[in-house]
Amino acid sequence: MHKPARFDMYATIHRALRHFMTDTLTQIGRLDAGDSEASRAALDQLDTLLYLCRQHLEHENRFVHPAIEARSPGGSQRIAGEHEDHLEAIAALEAEALAVRQAPSPTADLRLYRHLALFVADNFEHMQIEETRHNELLWQGYDDAELVQIHEQILASLDPAERGLVLRWMTPALPRSERAALYAELRKQMPGEVFSAVLEGAKPWLGAQDWAALVADLDQREALLA
Ligand SMILES: [Fe+2]
Repeated sequence: MHKPARFDMYATIHRALRHFMTDTLTQIGRLDAGDSEASRAALDQLDTLLYLCRQHLEHENRFVHPAIEARSPGGSQRIAGEHEDHLEAIAALEAEALAVRQAPSPTADLRLYRHLALFVADNFEHMQIEETRHNELLWQGYDDAELVQIHEQILASLDPAERGLVLRWMTPALPRSERAALYAELRKQMPGEVFSAVLEGAKPWLGAQDWAALVADLDQREALLA
């Protein structure tokens, strides 16, 4: 028999992070040992990625791991250990990126690119474990209403800057139906003119075609409600 899907608090944010990581890795791979505007923008993007990675793992440590430990003692231990390693890797990459800013060279650029690639590879395996083993423990220990509540606590802890940053990388990373659901939810939460500006802001992230599809999906949802 087909089992209904359980609430997956990792899926959406991890899509955003995978997109942010791969895009940034490509940008860093194109550094040209020069003090160009493009190089500065790529290094700024890397700093922003590393900031978001740190925030993300802190949210998991603060909200998700205690929930796992409460029902399955020791269940989050491996991933919590990896978070410690990730904090060290993030600090090392920040230092390396700063060194590249101060003294760009083909060798330094390539070294940073390779180290970032290893960090991304490590994070991909890590996120897979969270989405499988951690989800299993969460699903064993909690019903969906409780999991939604934990997820809402995380969302409530984000400041507007982090919220905007997540939206920037999440929007193009989602399947069309999930993207429409996300923006329908945002529309409920904000005044009309604020939402219009948010929707307009998504255009460059999506391109004209996907953006038009989003607008059409939102119109359709509104028509259904009317
Ligand atoms: Fe994690």
